Amino acid sequence: MKVTIIGAGNVGASCASLLSQKDIVKEIILLDVREKFAEGKSLDISQMLSIIGSNTHVIGITNDFSKSENSEIIIITCGIPRKPGMNRDDLMNTNAEIIHSVTKKSILFSPKAKFIIVSNPLDVMSYVSYMTLRVDSSRVIGMAGILDSVRYRYFLSRELNCSPHDIQSLLLGGHGDTMVPLYRYTSVSGIPIQEFLSKDKNQDIIEKTKKGGEQIVNLLGTSAWMAPSASVVQMVEAIIKDSKRIFSCSVFLKGEYDLKNIYLGVPVLLGKDGVEKIIELQLNKEERDLLKNSANHISNMMKKLKLNSLI
Ligand code: NAI
Ligand code: 2OP
Repeated sequence: MKVTIIGAGNVGASCASLLSQKDIVKEIILLDVREKFAEGKSLDISQMLSIIGSNTHVIGITNDFSKSENSEIIIITCGIPRKPGMNRDDLMNTNAEIIHSVTKKSILFSPKAKFIIVSNPLDVMSYVSYMTLRVDSSRVIGMAGILDSVRYRYFLSRELNCSPHDIQSLLLGGHGDTMVPLYRYTSVSGIPIQEFLSKDKNQDIIEKTKKGGEQIVNLLGTSAWMAPSASVVQMVEAIIKDSKRIFSCSVFLKGEYDLKNIYLGVPVLLGKDGVEKIIELQLNKEERDLLKNSANHISNMMKKLKLNSLI
């Protein structure tokens, strides 16, 4: 099993570190455009692995995509991250060019790979990747829902003074301020959240979750990487182990939830073939309206995408 990570920055290097510590893949290629940078990161990670006791080989590469040949999974983390005062949408056309170029090169060497997209704005970059790769959409999956959901669970756990492990939640929509965490589908060890928290109090936590990424950007001067990389590794593990886990991921919709031709977060079943099933929930009117609002936001962004000049 070979996994390639494009972009050896904060998210990419952390993905390589967390994934290699699990000792579930034979080889990880960490590739970056910055001369010698991925090599340095990989050496540090490999030396750490001697202490951890993992046999995964982590190999750093400067810009030579042929070294990614026959990867089963390719993780796209390259591009520019947010700085304070920027939102994810400000990154769009710069990152679209980068994502288009690296996905195009990657598929040449790994025609059967599944792609996990991380770069922002996430739903639009997943769409750009899909349009570039021209493979079945089950193989092009955006990571955001796991991260957003984990932030929601974390803030809830602080409020309820319980373990975040015991909180189950589901989140729909785009990765951004219009995300839709679902109160009705949140529970603590099977007990509906309504038993613990009023809808109003829950709404405060949802607002905090929506600002969760920005909170970290303001504290660190750049965006988060530890929770994002752990989220990516959950997806990789579900695919490698064919474990049929259900997560919210950004996927291409072809009429599900009455939405078409858009990448958006919905619950999916992940297994060896990538997205093996999109799960359609019976939403109530309020939930449907929130999802529609989120989809409209992503569609409006896509109108500003200079895709024709790329593809
Ligand atoms: P970073 O700046 O630390 O790393 C990005 C890396 O990409 C750099 O090392 C850069 O040299 C490399 N790069 C740029 N152009 C490249 C190219 N053409 N080929 C290969 N490598 C190239 O940024 P960070 O923090 O790792 O974030 C990466 C992306 O992930 C950003 O767009 C960020 O907004 C996004 N992100 C998305 C999350 C999500 O939930 N989907 C969570 C966290 C970050
Ligand atoms: C986050 O939510 C930046 O999208 C990234 O932390």
